[in-house]
Amino acid sequence: MASDGMLGLIAGAVGGLQDAVIITEGQRGPDGLRRIIFVNDAFTELTGFTPDEALGGLPDITLGPDSDRAVLKTIQDARDALVPVRVELVKYRKDGTPFWAELDVVPVLDEASRCELFLGVMRDVTQRRATHRRLLDTERLTTIGTLAAGVAHEMNNPLAYMMLNIGHLQEELPRLIASAHDPERWSELQNSVHEIQNGASRIAQIVRDIKTFARADSEPSEGCELLPVLDRAVQMARSGMPACARVATRYDQIALVRGDASRLSQVFLNLVLNALQAIPPTETDRRGVEVRTYESDESVVVEVRDQGVGVPPEVMPRIFDPFFTTKDTGKGVGLGLSIALGIVRSLSGQLEIESKVGEGTTARVSLPRVLPEQVASQRPRRSDAPDGSRLRVLVVDDEPMIARSLERALKVNNDVFTCSGGKAALELLEASASYDVILCDLSMPGMSGAELFDTVARRWPGMEQRFIIMTGGACSDAAQSFLDRRAVPRLDKPLDLAALRALLDKARATRSSS
Ligand SMILES: Nc1ncnc2c1ncn2[C@@H]1O[C@H](COP(=O)(O)OP(=O)(O)OP(=O)(O)O)[C@@H](O)[C@H]1O
Ligand SMILES: [Mg+2]
Repeated sequence: MASDGMLGLIAGAVGGLQDAVIITEGQRGPDGLRRIIFVNDAFTELTGFTPDEALGGLPDITLGPDSDRAVLKTIQDARDALVPVRVELVKYRKDGTPFWAELDVVPVLDEASRCELFLGVMRDVTQRRATHRRLLDTERLTTIGTLAAGVAHEMNNPLAYMMLNIGHLQEELPRLIASAHDPERWSELQNSVHEIQNGASRIAQIVRDIKTFARADSEPSEGCELLPVLDRAVQMARSGMPACARVATRYDQIALVRGDASRLSQVFLNLVLNALQAIPPTETDRRGVEVRTYESDESVVVEVRDQGVGVPPEVMPRIFDPFFTTKDTGKGVGLGLSIALGIVRSLSGQLEIESKVGEGTTARVSLPRVLPEQVASQRPRRSDAPDGSRLRVLVVDDEPMIARSLERALKVNNDVFTCSGGKAALELLEASASYDVILCDLSMPGMSGAELFDTVARRWPGMEQRFIIMTGGACSDAAQSFLDRRAVPRLDKPLDLAALRALLDKARATRSSS
């Protein structure tokens, strides 16, 4: 039994601590057990046991089915050896609710090294453990994101020349068919090319999604008109679902917003898809979706409201997590909302979801509006109709397949020259500086696109304006800072032939006006 003096001293010292303190006898009683001789107020607050209920009892009043036996044995061994110990284990309150406790048990010895008492200090670490788990989850997701970005990047180059070749085939086929003997077989061929193109576009979309998810894209800040984007998102969402609910639109006149149409369509496509998918197939006649827009302060707001099943409160905290889905395998990947959130945040906007089970869900996107004077005065013309004058185009790419595919796709209206790197390009330019357009890959071994650009700008001032830079998406820091510093037209791989043609048209117009 502890001396009253020592117990009084320790009890006085720890009585006001915020951590729960429990003191037990240092020596076993006649029944072989050590009993509780003191608890502080924090112990009562944490466990619900009053001093009256605890004193004289056994310390195992706070144990329960999930209290790890191996950990209890560790405590026991430390007590027997008279050494301090720190453990974490599940403990229980008087009302039966469990919590994670961090517990220190320290033996207090007298001058003769005899154990007077055991001091136990305990704190609730449930929250801390949850935070730690979330941190681990975040780390894991960051790793997945990095991996996915790498895979997307690797897929991009083969995809780039596949799509260029398909584009070329599609342009050539009608001409061949017109002169063919067996038109039926040829048009079957055309169908299959069309299907290949569909497949490749879908892969390209997935690659773009992954890159967005991994935040590898940089965002342009040109003003974008939102209403056509919304209409297209609704149309695309509906076309993917055979029998779906009605989508009503209620648009206020709104200002332009930051961001480009293709990334913003991804946001609203995902939101409209979620809304349509939330309405059970049997309810599509009675329940619907509404898309509305309005302005509020400095923002443009888009709401996608559905009368669907709603999001249960326990699911709500997880809906933005990448790969979180409540949908059947094959129906949802669980990336829609995390992609949407990534894009909206990158545009300094906000995305919130409100929901009531059984009534429906509202997704609200607020985007900063762009004032008219901030809008770049000229936008790229989107016309692939050549005006007849041929351009001399120098293609610089270390991937020979891409260079060849570009040559094939462009040579009808242009004189195309190819080379496989910066050094080779310089040699060609030394021989003749007469190229109208230099279509150059950004990341190449040896001399990079950025280095070629800077060298050309130094040696032939003004010629750098003929560059169109092609990027594979995930850029190195140096490459990204090059793109940020220079206002050079940029195309992401896989290349969109129409966008490339539009840039060539622009070069053609510039050439004929100068
Ligand atoms: N409008 C909504 N109504 C009800 N639940 C929703 C709604 N929007 C999202 N959710 C819930 O949030 C989850 C995550 O949505 P998210 O769009 O990220 O992935 P998904 O729709 O499951 O799959 P994916 O979009 O990749 O095809 C959904 O599985 C669903 O449980
Ligand atoms: Mg979704």
